[in-house]
Amino acid sequence: MSLQDFLSDLDKLVQEASAAFDAVTDAESLEVARVRYVGQKSGALRDIQKQISKIEPSDRKAAGMRFNESKAAIQDAFNDCKQRLGQGEAAAIDPTFDPTLPGLRPIVGHIHPITQTIEHLMEIMGRMGFEAAEGPEVEDPWHNFVALNIPEDHPARDPLDNFYLATANQNGVEPVSEGNQLLRSQTSTVQIRVMEKQKPPIRVISLGRVYRPDAPDATHFPMFHQMEGLFVDRHVTMANLKTVLRVFAANYLGDDVAIRFRPSFFPFTEPSVEVDFFWNDAWVEFGGAGMVDPNVFEAVGYDPEQYSGFAFGLGVERLCMRRHGITDIRDLYSGDLRFLRQF
Ligand code: PHE
Repeated sequence: MSLQDFLSDLDKLVQEASAAFDAVTDAESLEVARVRYVGQKSGALRDIQKQISKIEPSDRKAAGMRFNESKAAIQDAFNDCKQRLGQGEAAAIDPTFDPTLPGLRPIVGHIHPITQTIEHLMEIMGRMGFEAAEGPEVEDPWHNFVALNIPEDHPARDPLDNFYLATANQNGVEPVSEGNQLLRSQTSTVQIRVMEKQKPPIRVISLGRVYRPDAPDATHFPMFHQMEGLFVDRHVTMANLKTVLRVFAANYLGDDVAIRFRPSFFPFTEPSVEVDFFWNDAWVEFGGAGMVDPNVFEAVGYDPEQYSGFAFGLGVERLCMRRHGITDIRDLYSGDLRFLRQF
């Protein structure tokens, strides 16, 4: 084979290869061209390389040099083509994609405002030495009423004011009555559960759900949360109660909060008070409190001559709503993400 023929074959191949790479539009056609022109095993380059041995020995050096140049040119054409394809790739997938725009923030779930409030309240009360206690949401009349000094005929036990459960027994479904289990109407049940298990001194809070058959409106919901507090020891006084609530209010609502007790009545405390905080130019009632009634101590086997204590129950939703400027309790339980995402 003459050097002339060899060189013209080589030029033809380079032209053919660069035309083929120019025509490539996607990864698939790129791969076809690569196998054909630069592939190690079946490449056209290799076929031509074999011809070198058939050339006059004196021309072989020149042929080899030109061969290497052509090989490099084809490799370059391949590299250019690969780069061109890579740049166009993002645009090919989504023509509206603009890599210069700022990224979208991924939507991550977060903790419900009431749960956040509960954690905050536990933290504040924890600093005053109150430990968290829990009780069941389905209660028996003993813990929700009887041990709390609420007798059988008390209006607070009315089926219209409580969610009594229709429970099944051997004779079928028991009708709803005041002797049945119920969804607890107050977290004061946990006072009894704690005192039944532990001896004084006691310093606990309990944060949880309570249920009352109220029609929902801006300030009522059939399920809400309370923070119950119980402190029992020797020589506990009402001054201790007021101090704890004042320190709590200053921590949760702000240093300038004033606190006021108004005389009231609860069967399980004597004396009893309504607790108001003065905040944002208004007195707002946040719950009830008082000194634990001796009858309650007797129900759990404490000696009322030795021990005294205070208890309080504050509305968690009310605290959360005041602090965050929420005006409708139903917003908290609507599941509306536009509302919930703000917290
Ligand atoms: N359990 C009362 C209520 O639900 C609040 C309270 C708790 C009052 C503890 C006194 C002591 O209204």
